[in-house]
Amino acid sequence: MSAISADAPGKIILFGEHAVVYGRPAIAVPVLQVRAHVEVYARPQALAGEVHLQAPDVDLDAWLADLPGDQPLARVVREVLQDLSLSKCPACNIHITSTIPVASGLGSGAAVSVAVIRALSAFLGNPLPDEKVSAIAFEVEKLYHGMPSGIDNNVITYARPVFFVRGYPIESLRLPRPFTIVIGDTGVSSPTSLAVGDVRRLWQIDPARYEGVFDQIGRIAQLARKSIENGEPEHLGTLMNENQVHLRYIGVSSPELESLIEVAMAAGALGAKLSGAGRGGNMIALAEPEKANEVARALEEAGAVRTIVTVVGSKGNEEMGRLGDKEIRGLEGKKKEGR
Ligand code: PMV
Repeated sequence: MSAISADAPGKIILFGEHAVVYGRPAIAVPVLQVRAHVEVYARPQALAGEVHLQAPDVDLDAWLADLPGDQPLARVVREVLQDLSLSKCPACNIHITSTIPVASGLGSGAAVSVAVIRALSAFLGNPLPDEKVSAIAFEVEKLYHGMPSGIDNNVITYARPVFFVRGYPIESLRLPRPFTIVIGDTGVSSPTSLAVGDVRRLWQIDPARYEGVFDQIGRIAQLARKSIENGEPEHLGTLMNENQVHLRYIGVSSPELESLIEVAMAAGALGAKLSGAGRGGNMIALAEPEKANEVARALEEAGAVRTIVTVVGSKGNEEMGRLGDKEIRGLEGKKKEGR
């Protein structure tokens, strides 16, 4: 029997992480070289309600009925059924794989949710619209983060560069001139909830000081939007460096991130910062297209467990999708090992 399948990309936050939780704007873009992939197969011989979930990447192989309410994948399935007013799901297997590293700031949780929602709702004959997909993924994000801003589920659902303010509809960015970002993974896994919780405690101790920092980060995100939309992406480097100063100040950088940032700058990047919750996970660097591979190589030599070179453009998604494997480093090695 053929499967109904759906994909969802990873993402990076270019500007504004953490401050976005406190109502300041942020900019995020999809990363199509990594993705979650979900296949749903009917089980014609089985009884209605027998839903089997398999996610080999996280060692999950279980029946939906046996999973607790706060298990994120079970929660996604139950939310979809509830939204479609189905008390029982037709018997099926849901198979989930992902090339997005977990707990590293690339949006793996939201991408898996989005792909499950799309594949399952299509399998049930009622593909949900983007708005609904994003809203359900947001509910599930709460299990991972507690108090997510909503940026991950939005950028991943809509798969295009977004300017995002919590509680407002996303705005698409005009991108008259594409630019190249090198992503470097420290290999240190860092759950978003920990970093977000620590920042909250600091903010509670001294709200005026941290509100001031968030204002600065929000101002940088606004300036970055102007540079992107005016076709002057070269200014983004300085803005990334400034954003990183504030992220360091609120305690979400780490020695591994700092070391990769330094290496990227020494290799000719125009600016660099952490991306996502921080403390580990990924850093990003703006590079001239002809320098990008050199920066990526330097990051790998300095210990990055993988690098991705991605072009952010107005037709970014298609472009990135087409360039695919040619632009991804590190994953290629992983694939070869697996053969
Ligand atoms: O999921 P991550 O690691 O990309 O972090 C999301 C960005 C934060 O601003 C730290 C949290 C949020 O909900 O926006």
